[in-house]
Amino acid sequence: MTAGLSCKQGLKGLSRCQLPVRPSACVRVPQLRVVTPQAVARPQQNHRASKKSSLGRPASPGSGSMSNTAAKAVAEPLVVPDFLPASIAFTPEWKALEEHVDEIKRSHLRDLLLDETRCKKMFFENEGILADLSRQRMTEKTLQLLFKLADQANLKGKINAMFNGEHLNLTEDRAVLHVALRAQRDEVIMCDGKNVVPDVWEVLDKIKDFSNSVRSGEWKGQTGEELTDVVAIGIGGSFLGPLFAHTALRTDQEAAGLAYGRNLRFLANVDPVDVARALNGLRPETTLVVVVSKTFTTAETMLNARTVRSWLTASLGQEAVAKHMVAVSTNTTLVREFGIDPENAFAFWDWVGGRYSVCSAVGVLPLALQYGFPVIERFLQGANAVDRHFHEAPFDSNIPVLLGLASVWNVSFLHYPARAILPYCQALSKLAPHIQQVSMESNGKGVGIDGNPLPYEAGEIDFGEPGTNGQHSFYQLIHQGRVIPCDFIGVVKSQQSVYLKACGPASVGGEVVSNHDELMCNFFAQADALATGKSAIELRAEQVPDHLIPHKTFTGNRPSLSIMLPDLTAYTVGQVLSLYENRIAVQGFVWGINSFDQWGVELGKVLASKVRTAMHNCRTKSRKISPSDGFNPSTSNLLNRYLSGKAELLYPEPHDVFPCDLIDSEYCQPPTSYV
Ligand code: F6P
Repeated sequence: MTAGLSCKQGLKGLSRCQLPVRPSACVRVPQLRVVTPQAVARPQQNHRASKKSSLGRPASPGSGSMSNTAAKAVAEPLVVPDFLPASIAFTPEWKALEEHVDEIKRSHLRDLLLDETRCKKMFFENEGILADLSRQRMTEKTLQLLFKLADQANLKGKINAMFNGEHLNLTEDRAVLHVALRAQRDEVIMCDGKNVVPDVWEVLDKIKDFSNSVRSGEWKGQTGEELTDVVAIGIGGSFLGPLFAHTALRTDQEAAGLAYGRNLRFLANVDPVDVARALNGLRPETTLVVVVSKTFTTAETMLNARTVRSWLTASLGQEAVAKHMVAVSTNTTLVREFGIDPENAFAFWDWVGGRYSVCSAVGVLPLALQYGFPVIERFLQGANAVDRHFHEAPFDSNIPVLLGLASVWNVSFLHYPARAILPYCQALSKLAPHIQQVSMESNGKGVGIDGNPLPYEAGEIDFGEPGTNGQHSFYQLIHQGRVIPCDFIGVVKSQQSVYLKACGPASVGGEVVSNHDELMCNFFAQADALATGKSAIELRAEQVPDHLIPHKTFTGNRPSLSIMLPDLTAYTVGQVLSLYENRIAVQGFVWGINSFDQWGVELGKVLASKVRTAMHNCRTKSRKISPSDGFNPSTSNLLNRYLSGKAELLYPEPHDVFPCDLIDSEYCQPPTSYV
């Protein structure tokens, strides 16, 4: 590497940053039991497949997201420690909550909200974050019953086990320690007999040096120009978290000032349209590419990385890779094979799940390049503050625990299948897509941690849009159609203040509220509209004609919770992240599932490989898909239609058409401005 000195210094020692993958023997629990699905006695109440679960013996252990150690570990019987009880559906605590549902069904939020004592007791605060649960279909008794359920599920023990580096992710035999990524320098978090915090800070220091060097112009590109533009290539957890944080920070006054003159773009989808959009208007001479992939095997990311490498080297030459491409990964071997010097790689560890990796180099590197390390350090500090609260506070004042239990109540007892995440804050517009992955990839499971089919549904369908945009879109369904518990998130002080004053002739008055006040009026109003509704009696009093009354009636009694932040800075963005990550862990812990693996994404990847092979074969041999390719008739028809449509393109043969051949051809000019 031919970089400036301080950077070179900072980028050394990668091998020291990488933790060797650990042998499987250090689950530090006193009692272990080997569980086969048949070994767990339970009433035959579930309606799902009763055949022996294959958990622990996956058919295809060679998936991209799986280490050799994990593959080795799962070849052995799954060992479930006693502190990880699985299904709790047959416990008295679960039954008590089921019985309590009838009581709640007899109440209406309209009345519950009139109870001042209840409202006070449902209002929680920690370090400036307010969480109001008074619009949940809950009473104090519900909360008490949920706390008992949490005890039965050993929630406290599981939280402690997570912070203690136990291998909670049993199917991959890994610890779950994303909380260590934002630990303070002097904290001690042990995993496999080693304090991991110094390793975390070694990488953070390296990012600090590198980002300073790039931002100051000390690190230059191949032609000697400064690198002002960053393209971060990654998908899933290697994309959504950093995008969420970037979107949240870009209008923060301080962060925006520090990012002046710089660009941060993301390239996630393997769709070439995404490549064209990500690179549009950028010059290779001033562009730094960060390839972000935990495994460095994800098909989409690697193809995008090769594509952008072609874009760089086409004009700057092969040597440009050394100065224009860096990597974030746990897999240094593949980073080197790709052509990136491992000294230009930023490590993280197998105890960080992809969707929990925004506080590792995955997020910290691109964000520090854009905003400077000190801003991102505050993001980490915000997340750390909520982690500590989560770890230490008793359940009755522990906000992530309370939110998690409310979700369990909504999903498993009131049987609401979805959750809407509705920030009244445009800067949080990428919160819902990020939490969608964190939540649905974590808790979208059909079996308990012991491999037995769950006798209840776990996980929920997460979606959302910022208010007020959502109000003009899907809120109709939320108000009068299905019941969807909503998370309303608002901030007290906006990142941008606009308040139109009176101006011009005296008759032209100013606005009665500021623009942000106007937004927040909706934040308060929507939650009450959902909760209280509007009855036929009220409509009649307003002289609404009889035939319209059913259409204009709002049943109300639709639950929501309100989270209010003092402002939206790097620190509070970190708080929000940790609040949701830990809430989702609570849900998974109570449901008795493994929230930290994601086997459900593997099958599609395997089938895509099969299609890739067949497609290449058909193209190069000028033949159609035939039954011998092994696809069903429907897929064969679709594929043949696709292949014949493609044959009309200028380039029927697969070859490298990017960037020179296709993009520069007169047949395929990229539009000049579409970002
Ligand atoms: O889609 C599954 C998944 O493994 C996610 O969990 C992960 O965040 C994403 O793919 C990207 O993986 P990687 O960082 O290894 O490229």
